[in-house]
Amino acid sequence: MVSRAPLDGAVPVASPAFPTRTHSHEAKGDPVLNRKTIARAMGALTVLGTMLAATPAGASAEAVLHGKCTACHVEQDGVFSRISNQRKTPEGWLMSVARMQVMHGLKITDEERRSVVKYLADTQGLAPSETAGFRYALERRLNTPESFESEQFAQMCARCHSGARVRLQRRAPEDWQRLVHFHLGQFATTEYQMWGRDRDWFTVALDEVAPGLARSQPLDTEAWKAWRASTPPAVDGQWTVSGQMPGRGGFSGVMTVSTLAGKDRHAVSFEGAWDDGSALKGQGQAVVYTGYEWRADLQLDGTPMRQVLAVEPGLMRGRMFQRDHDEVGADIVASRQQAGNSRVLSVYPAYLKVGQEAELRIVGTELAGDVRLAEGIELLGVARRSATEVVVRVRAGASARGVAPVTVGQASGGALAVFERIDAVRVVPEFAVARIGGNGTPTAKVEGRFDAEAWAAGADGQIGTADDYRIGVFPARWSVAPFDEQAERDKDVQFAGVMDADSGVFVPGGAGPNPARRMMTNNAGNLKVLAEVGQGAEVVRGEGHLIVTVPRWNNPPIP
Ligand code: HEC
Ligand code: HEC
Repeated sequence: MVSRAPLDGAVPVASPAFPTRTHSHEAKGDPVLNRKTIARAMGALTVLGTMLAATPAGASAEAVLHGKCTACHVEQDGVFSRISNQRKTPEGWLMSVARMQVMHGLKITDEERRSVVKYLADTQGLAPSETAGFRYALERRLNTPESFESEQFAQMCARCHSGARVRLQRRAPEDWQRLVHFHLGQFATTEYQMWGRDRDWFTVALDEVAPGLARSQPLDTEAWKAWRASTPPAVDGQWTVSGQMPGRGGFSGVMTVSTLAGKDRHAVSFEGAWDDGSALKGQGQAVVYTGYEWRADLQLDGTPMRQVLAVEPGLMRGRMFQRDHDEVGADIVASRQQAGNSRVLSVYPAYLKVGQEAELRIVGTELAGDVRLAEGIELLGVARRSATEVVVRVRAGASARGVAPVTVGQASGGALAVFERIDAVRVVPEFAVARIGGNGTPTAKVEGRFDAEAWAAGADGQIGTADDYRIGVFPARWSVAPFDEQAERDKDVQFAGVMDADSGVFVPGGAGPNPARRMMTNNAGNLKVLAEVGQGAEVVRGEGHLIVTVPRWNNPPIP
């Protein structure tokens, strides 16, 4: 077996139609097709190890474009064939250049690739608004079910890879058409597959899909023009950070960012704690592409983590995940500690029971002025306060119900739920995919991670109506059950993996055929995910769906 680079799970290339280049002998013979090299390439957007190994002088991107790309791409007056007629994300550029290496024989060093990807992402990137709605692909939320208005688009273009990969690009009309030629030229079986053979795929792609994309995703847009003319938001300084990780809980802390002299990157350190009080800290580096695409690599308590965030003035939002297990991640939001940037990021605990008295921790920036809570929630006193944290004692009065804002002076953004009883429990995500792995194979297991969300009925007293409100994440007792009769017969519960009863973390079984299973099948399974939340003597149950399936052999930066 070819070993995957331990640094990341990203090997580019290949649809099901792609010629098999994964045999063990290929890697040794052909340095260009060495999967390890390319896996490293694909991780290079943020991988710290490789960044540090880079020569400090750095390779000039223009020199690389002229020296390495013009062998195949014609240049005239600074316009490069193919290259100049498109805009995309840093990951998008990385994938294209890595394809040049894997498929077209481009020879380029890691440092040259880094520099050219940075340059192209900066000069031919997407405006923040042009990534809206599709950031899940960059943030590696691989459980996201996609849905597109156009069935044609879904069948033609979002069946081998995500539709987001397409939506995160802008091109000149002829370059959308060249993209179609490239697909059929290199993945000839596109035409024979389902949703290819029932139509004249090539003609439809060329004459309908490509012109449609040229209209909806043109090369030149007002958004990009305006973004290029604007001053990018500041990143250096101190940021209050708040996050929520399914299967683990919330955390908050301070992230300190400073530009590394003479380098196009930033030193990052984080110091904070989980809501349960245990410390969380570490450091790393970040690169900001296109003026707002924050990509950082940190070691947090010894675990390599990545951040994929979008920077806005005074605010960063996105996701942080384990470098080697991107399903283990947290939604994060950060607010820059700067004058006038008043914001509440989180309130802990996020819910109170009617009549309950508690210490409430409000985290944010520029927290000055009075703490205001909803009517019915009594402020008993302020235990301590700073510009970034206010701790108050409160009591939820008998009349309080629902979710209400928590503000401190000018700072808004917080919310506190008050409930009398839990009326329903929802398993989040409702549907998830876990993947078998390990067991001597090069692909790691992909876990399923669940939260139990408690909900309460609104004023009408009925659950399942529009005024239901979300109370928050509760501790639960977790288990799995067969999803249907087939799963029962195949003993999926026994083979597909193990659900941790306390955390809601499901660890799938090993990859490969299992002699103990009917027809020696693998450890795939179809399971119900069951959460039980205790409420006095009563138990409130929630149910989700988990498919345990085969490894994701191709794991490019944009799915
Ligand atoms: C050995 C030849 C070769 C070299 C060198 C080469 N390319 Fe390419 N490039 C191609 C071919 C062939 C295509 C069209 C097929 C494809 O897209 O894979 C292409 C297409 C592209 C595209 C368009 C992809 C798309 O989806 O439309 C981009 C962007 C690109 N190359 C970037 C680069 C950059 C940047 C360099 C230099 C760092 C480079 N190439 C060097 C052969 C090359
Ligand atoms: C048969 C499977 C298949 C279908 C169908 C398909 N693609 Fe792709 N597409 C691929 C593969 C494989 C790649 C990745 C090539 C690489 O390694 O970079 C890709 C890459 C891309 C890229 C990134 C190219 C770059 O370098 O920037 C875009 C954009 C894209 N496809 C758009 C489309 C559109 C639009 C359609 C529908 C007209 C479509 N795809 C249909 C397999 C497919």
